[in-house]
Amino acid sequence: MTKQLEQCKLVLEKNWKGKFTIPSPRLYPFQWNWDSGFIAIGNSHLKLDRSILEIETLFSGQWENGFLPHILFHNADKYSSYFPSADYWNSSVSPFAPENLKTSGITQPPVHGFVLEHLFNLSSDKERMTKIFDKIVKYHEYLYDYREFNDSGLVSIWHNWESGMDNSVWWDDVLERIDRSKVENIELFRKDIHEVEESNNTRPKDLDYKRYLYLVNKLHDSKYERVSDYYPFQVLDPVFNTILLQSNKSLIKIGKEINRDTSFLQSQTEKGIENFSKYFWNENDSLYYPFDLISQNQINKHCSGCYIPIFAGIPSAIQIEKLVNHFEKNDNLIPIPSCFPDQKGFEKKNYWRGPVWVNMNWMVWKGLLLYGKDRLAEKIKNSTIKMVDKYGVYEYFDPYLNAKQTAGYGGANFSWTAALILDMERS
Ligand code: GLC
Repeated sequence: MTKQLEQCKLVLEKNWKGKFTIPSPRLYPFQWNWDSGFIAIGNSHLKLDRSILEIETLFSGQWENGFLPHILFHNADKYSSYFPSADYWNSSVSPFAPENLKTSGITQPPVHGFVLEHLFNLSSDKERMTKIFDKIVKYHEYLYDYREFNDSGLVSIWHNWESGMDNSVWWDDVLERIDRSKVENIELFRKDIHEVEESNNTRPKDLDYKRYLYLVNKLHDSKYERVSDYYPFQVLDPVFNTILLQSNKSLIKIGKEINRDTSFLQSQTEKGIENFSKYFWNENDSLYYPFDLISQNQINKHCSGCYIPIFAGIPSAIQIEKLVNHFEKNDNLIPIPSCFPDQKGFEKKNYWRGPVWVNMNWMVWKGLLLYGKDRLAEKIKNSTIKMVDKYGVYEYFDPYLNAKQTAGYGGANFSWTAALILDMERS
């Protein structure tokens, strides 16, 4: 095993808590939803049983209505280095929330279907796989029941954190809708800024954070039920929807093997793919963008998320050529910045406003292989591995090729970085 792989293995080992993996020590001391999916893929190369247990533990936090929270606060009393805390979320206001485990009240991109396909192909324990399968299907049914927009097969998100790309420039105008005067009195007890270096430049600003909490408070007040027409954050996110469609495809495949009826997922998938271009594709820019349901406009900003539909094989033969053309530009950048430097709001060190994230690169890499774009796929894979080798197993990375000094930011020993580098190296 190379030195880098040893290091990645060690990160996963250290962050393993017996039944699940934390994303990063101190900064993220609980179980996060889509993190667990990516981590399970990496761990499957080392300890398959751990990967399966990771997903089983995640679904122990599933609500009775199928909803799957973005944080499971295991041992909430033992760790106080995260805000908003379990008590702030107070999931017990919902009659559907589990009684013996505190959780958040928003979700994250539904990666579990394609993760299960990966595990299903490796595991001989089909009974265990079937139990997880049924829970994932129930979660997808929740998404279509609560979040489907106008019978489009596409679902909405109700918080920027639900996208997983917390402070992306994509959400700036949507959040601006929440007037400053409404959030000024919201109290902050932020912990993240004490856990990372240079937090002024690398984490969301306080005003942004207050807006995030404003949304949490609103959702909490409605017991984490359906939102009203006036709720300010209602967006169709191409990343969330790509991941949902890819997971549907995986569930349909698994369903055939274990004799489950997947006709509902099939028709939802067909609808979603049919409507995908209508809402997300921008012909002028040859990119996919989110669609804001309140203003009924696309959010036209060039980010790594614009490429994620490649992961689910969504672009047509023409669209994929147009998309990959973008990679011919920007020689001074490591692919793929979470926001490109010529976009309004770009900040090279700030979280999802510029830095490179390994999970996004991993999805685009996988998608390019699907399209037979092996050369570009290899290029993205190699530059991702090199970046992590040079700067360490961080949460996110400076997008400039010539970045000096430390160019890895946020949490050190970050689990999904370790897990997906392992997968890229082993595949
Ligand atoms: C940050 C990321 C989010 C991730 C979480 C835990 O909030 O933006 O995507 O799930 O950290 O790693």
